[in-house]
Amino acid sequence: MTPELYITYKGILFPSMRSTVETLNYVENEFQLLDEDILLVTYPKSGTVWMLEILGLIQHSGDPSWVHSTVVWERAPWINTNLGLELALKYPPPRLLTTHLPFQISPKSLLHSEAKVIYTLRNPKDVLISYYHFAKLYDGLKDPGTVEEFLEEFLSGNVPIGSWFDHVKGWLEMKDRSNFFFITYEELQKDLRGSVEKICHFLGKEINRQQIDAVVENASFQKMKDNKMSNFSNLPDAHFNHKEGKFMRKGICEDWKNHLTVKQSKHFDCVYQEKMKDVNVAFPWG
Ligand code: A3P
Repeated sequence: MTPELYITYKGILFPSMRSTVETLNYVENEFQLLDEDILLVTYPKSGTVWMLEILGLIQHSGDPSWVHSTVVWERAPWINTNLGLELALKYPPPRLLTTHLPFQISPKSLLHSEAKVIYTLRNPKDVLISYYHFAKLYDGLKDPGTVEEFLEEFLSGNVPIGSWFDHVKGWLEMKDRSNFFFITYEELQKDLRGSVEKICHFLGKEINRQQIDAVVENASFQKMKDNKMSNFSNLPDAHFNHKEGKFMRKGICEDWKNHLTVKQSKHFDCVYQEKMKDVNVAFPWG
């Protein structure tokens, strides 16, 4: 019998190859975030690895040696996975940590810690398309079927990490806290230098102009596409179908326009408007 591809923890799906209920329960209830930690939070396919490259470069004042020599999932363990949790528990502070966890099942210790949280979010139509392509390549995810089928699963939250809408609404509850910062993928695209400056300011990290230039240069799509420590080419073929596509796929805004029909896009808009009607934040995708 083939094992189930997903497990469910408190109503949210997770790839069973990467996470167990015990890990998720530990992370929610026991894992201690430390005041010196930096925690990157994203819904999948929102620019996680991009932001990790930026943060790794900022931490090293623009010097790319670390991001070029250590694979991204070791640089900033994904604490919702078994391997990530194991690494995070071994690392001394200050740790760079990553999670896709929805707010309601994120570490309880966060509420009493000064850990700096960076929430990166992206136009959900682009998230959908990026997720769709990724699901075709990555062994931890179910074959997404057609775009139409995946669209319905995505809108109803029946995909790993659950509903995009709930994720965003949940995490934005933290938006008035001084240790919480959010930024969009679209803003990074529009003004990477300005975004790096804002992130440095939030982190209290002072780096000079040349060092900022080095962060911007090394976090470009092309540089990251060539960085084997960030482009997922290190994942064995058994886990990622390198022949069929790349993790660093297109790296653009509004690719959804090449994939969704007018009808699908309108349907998405209707669901979006209903689900997001109480959110008082202006997003670049309007
Ligand atoms: P696409 O599939 O639309 O190309 P995550 O890291 O959360 O899984 O997100 C992956 C998405 O971020 C992919 O989007 C990937 O190409 C994009 N990405 C990664 N690095 C980037 C960069 N430097 N510039 C722009 N997009 C980047």
